[in-house]
Amino acid sequence: MANILVIGDGAIGLMLSHFLSKAHNVYVFTRKTTANTRFYCKANQPSQKINAQFITLKQLNELPAFDTVIFAVKAFQVIDAFIHIKPFLSSRCNIVLSHNGMGNVEQLNAELRFEQALYFLTTSMAGFKSNQYIVQHTGEGKNIFGACNTQAHNNYKAMLEQFSPLPQLSYSKNIEQLRFEKLLVNIAINPLSALHNIKNGQLRAPQFSSTIFNLLTEACNIAQALKLNIKLADALSNAYTIMTLTAQNYSSMHQDVIHNRQTEINAICGYISEQGRRLNINTPINNELLAKIKAKKSVD
Ligand code: PAF
Repeated sequence: MANILVIGDGAIGLMLSHFLSKAHNVYVFTRKTTANTRFYCKANQPSQKINAQFITLKQLNELPAFDTVIFAVKAFQVIDAFIHIKPFLSSRCNIVLSHNGMGNVEQLNAELRFEQALYFLTTSMAGFKSNQYIVQHTGEGKNIFGACNTQAHNNYKAMLEQFSPLPQLSYSKNIEQLRFEKLLVNIAINPLSALHNIKNGQLRAPQFSSTIFNLLTEACNIAQALKLNIKLADALSNAYTIMTLTAQNYSSMHQDVIHNRQTEINAICGYISEQGRRLNINTPINNELLAKIKAKKSVD
């Protein structure tokens, strides 16, 4: 039984906590613990209390050493959250990132102590918080993790065992490729759903097809320059499959814009724009959507 700290009580953080707490001691770090209970709910099934302890910064010192810390926060919150939590982590604690978009891995590797293993977990489980205390699990999905440094690579079998309560779990030797594939889905869905205030499924309408095609063409040009094995036809087919599977959901960026919160656009279209500048590849449609989403929210 491992001690696992989950940073972030958003939909993904709560779903991971629900499954992991079936076999481990799970602590969920929240900014405010107005109540120490959260619930997991799946369609047509009774809701279940999540068997985790919800804690704040003050309580971190009183807890046993963590074997693993999962950062289930937005891309732009990872480094700041890590710097706050770092003094409480042993040199052998596994670090796991799970967020939309790119960036962070190199910066975080530079912050880690020698023995700390860094992993990335991509999840396609769909869920949303119907209120502060309840996560609705709305779509089945895979949980795939991979190693982001040598220590992680050497210890991945132990991690596979530790993460075994997660649904459809597997280990990938090429997590960068998977992260890019997920990035392509987010590029196709997130900004347009937020700008047009629509559900994911509505993006299948013909009026969006040329923009989606252009967004993904630019991103695939970047992927090819980065020597990733990504094909435009697969990227398009994958994006439309996810739109269908999550047709009734609002994307995370849609929710962020509606609630006037900072979005992950810098780690999504912003990453493509940045790589385009670096590699001398034109990315006009990603630049345009980056600017339009930023204009919606002044802090991005
Ligand atoms: O960010 C999101 O909302 C999700 O990653 C996805 C896959 C686009 C589904 O809504």
